[in-house]
Amino acid sequence: MRKLIIDTDTGSDDAVALIMALKSANFKVEAITTVCGNVPLELATKNALMTIEVANGQKPPLYVGAAKPLMRDLVTAVNVHGEDGMGDCNLIHPTILPETKHAVDAILDIIENNPGEIEIVTIGPVTNIALAILKAPETMKKVKHIYTMGTSGFGPGNTTPVAEFNVYVDAEAYHIMLNSGIPTTIVGFDVCLGEAALNKDDLDVLLSSGKEEAVFSVKCNRSLLEYNLQRSNEHIVDLPDAVAMGVVLWDDIVLEDKLCYCYVCTQEAAAYGQVIINDGSKLAISDGFAGHTPNARVCKSIDNQLFKKRLLELLVS
Ligand code: RIB
Ligand code: CA
Repeated sequence: MRKLIIDTDTGSDDAVALIMALKSANFKVEAITTVCGNVPLELATKNALMTIEVANGQKPPLYVGAAKPLMRDLVTAVNVHGEDGMGDCNLIHPTILPETKHAVDAILDIIENNPGEIEIVTIGPVTNIALAILKAPETMKKVKHIYTMGTSGFGPGNTTPVAEFNVYVDAEAYHIMLNSGIPTTIVGFDVCLGEAALNKDDLDVLLSSGKEEAVFSVKCNRSLLEYNLQRSNEHIVDLPDAVAMGVVLWDDIVLEDKLCYCYVCTQEAAAYGQVIINDGSKLAISDGFAGHTPNARVCKSIDNQLFKKRLLELLVS
């Protein structure tokens, strides 16, 4: 059975990803760890606890992690996910509590107890992962794989023209993770758009299913839907973290991927959080990228219809 640790800044798309994993019987979620990002840490933690309660699946322990990025002040995405990160519709009243151990220590303990078996799924800023690498690099070398929702992939940024949110919140952490030597798969924002987003018909299927976790998945994304309607008049809910979790659960939805050398911009203010991905297709004559060893497998396209079919089936099952 595959063993996962899911690190999350539980906004509303994270919640769907968490439900997907918790309902997948052939995966053992060893722990959920929370990090600041979409919302401040306390809210991310409450949102994750509530999601565990409604998921109708496994009930893993939850550990609380970093309340701020490594070097910078926290930037949140409450303008997208709502002030509470979950649609501001009074959904969040958890009755369960987090563990007292810090998330970084929990991650290290679980890896030491399961050498070579743990797959870490990051669906928020990677501050906790970077702290674990800094604290115990030899332990982190025992991680089997990291799947990360992050970077803008081969498309534009969503937070700045060149930076995706999870990297933009803590680019230093992303640099540390990408250069740790841990086998890594990147699901960039670019493959989470278009037909990968849930449309009105998809949302109606979930709402009419009568399943608490399916209805919760729609309601908590109310702010995201409103954001999309106001911004582009599209009745869609794009769920990057759910797409990343789809790649973890169902690797066959990946149509194309490439081993790439990924460079995280941390110095130049205007490019902070940009991840320059060299897939080897460019004439790297003197750009300084030539000759670097690839440090991540980057997804270039996924089967959107297959992803959504499996997502809807899982949420209403
Ligand atoms: O850029 C999308 C990512 O940022 C997702 O993980 C979303 O939840 C936010 O954290
Ligand atoms: Ca997230």
